[in-house]
Amino acid sequence: MSEPKGGKPTAMWGGRFEGQADELFRAVNDSLGVDWELVQQDIRGSIAWAHAIGGAGVLTPDEVSKIESALKELAKDAEAIPSPPLSSGAEDVHSWVEQELTRRIGPLGKKLHTGRSRNDQVATDLRLWGVEQCDRRVTEVRALQRSLVALGTKHASDPIPGYTHLQRAQPVTIGHWALAYVEMLARDVERFEFARAMAARSPLGSAALAGTTFPVDRVALASRLGFREPTRNSLDAVSDRDFALDLLHASSVCAMHLSRLAEEMIIFATGEFAFITLDDSVTSGSSLMPQKKNPDALELIRAGVGRALGNYTNLLTLLKGLTLAYNKDMQEDKPPVFDSMRRLSILLRIAARVIERTTFNLQTCERAAKGGHANSTELADYLVEKGVPFRDAHEIAGKLVRQALAKGCALEDLPIETYRQHHAQIEQDVFQRMTLEAVLARRDVLGGTAPARVRDALGVWRSALGMA
Ligand code: ARG
Repeated sequence: MSEPKGGKPTAMWGGRFEGQADELFRAVNDSLGVDWELVQQDIRGSIAWAHAIGGAGVLTPDEVSKIESALKELAKDAEAIPSPPLSSGAEDVHSWVEQELTRRIGPLGKKLHTGRSRNDQVATDLRLWGVEQCDRRVTEVRALQRSLVALGTKHASDPIPGYTHLQRAQPVTIGHWALAYVEMLARDVERFEFARAMAARSPLGSAALAGTTFPVDRVALASRLGFREPTRNSLDAVSDRDFALDLLHASSVCAMHLSRLAEEMIIFATGEFAFITLDDSVTSGSSLMPQKKNPDALELIRAGVGRALGNYTNLLTLLKGLTLAYNKDMQEDKPPVFDSMRRLSILLRIAARVIERTTFNLQTCERAAKGGHANSTELADYLVEKGVPFRDAHEIAGKLVRQALAKGCALEDLPIETYRQHHAQIEQDVFQRMTLEAVLARRDVLGGTAPARVRDALGVWRSALGMA
């Protein structure tokens, strides 16, 4: 954090103090460099508060409208200030707004803080910010889902190996693979919606800790700010940052999902797998090795969860053991929250670009899906239909896999005689059953990888996501 520059300190508590604040103390105490991010929210909250104390008879209607229009102008002007105005000397964004307001409209500006504390103010600002950020993350997650659905639609029935333990298990379609991530991300949307609901409560009127003395209508105030309801206990309201933890939790889980997607694509992009080709625009070369094309975007997406979890741990640890009500420790809530949300926004958007620009090497995918004896479950199922108990069928199929391995061929390349040594009723139709098409088509259950099911699921998602 940068040290405050210039500007005579204009502390809001001047009366009781004779001495000036130590410079190093200010370097740790001042938060304008960080909470400038909340300037629009602080102004919105202040306009709502002006109306609330107007309703309580503290301000005349004329004073309310003067404050409101000055704050609206200030909001516009603040948009044009790209970095924190540290030279103002203001301690934090709340002081800056009040200072600017008073500079513009004179002593009336000093009435705005009546019955309010920065404690309920900052909680309000961060909640307003959180609500907006949740909406943005939901929009970004949905955009990524659309990219995946588009990819899945293009390859609804193209085969790729499905893995467990990163060993080829059974073939699936690329459409099915893409939809797995769409489902993960759908849960992220739900988590962000939950975090949004947790943030959407209005602490204003709690004042410093015990509740304001002015008869403000907290319900009207909450709804003016777009919140669901007012908080119910003033002590809790000014010291609660659970909603911020919920934001960080939702971000961490989402970042974890992105890291899984990234890791899988990094593996798919290796020369050894070569299932996909990444676009030049999201990769980089090596300064030394001319042949290299590195999946940097995906690697940074994979790394994102480290940051997200670090921020989550930071805030959770910070809150541990804090006594009621507000403590200055809580000022340190903002850097982790801002960082996580900003970073996740970038990662979600870049992930969508990576997906949109990735090419699947269909022949390689198909060859891999055919290999690895991944159709042996199908052989076991076939035997079950001939009346063989599944455990025995599994045993027979396993032995045939061993024979195929010994010969260095695929299961379906073993002669029918070899099959019949294990079970007399195995017919020629076993070969048809073990083709890739048949193996895929038979997973025809809700949620299964049969291309028909995948197309149904894609259709559901296309309409849910408003895709043509
Ligand atoms: N800058 C402070 C924060 O972000 C605002 C609240 C200050 N309250 C106080 N009692 N000093 O937490």
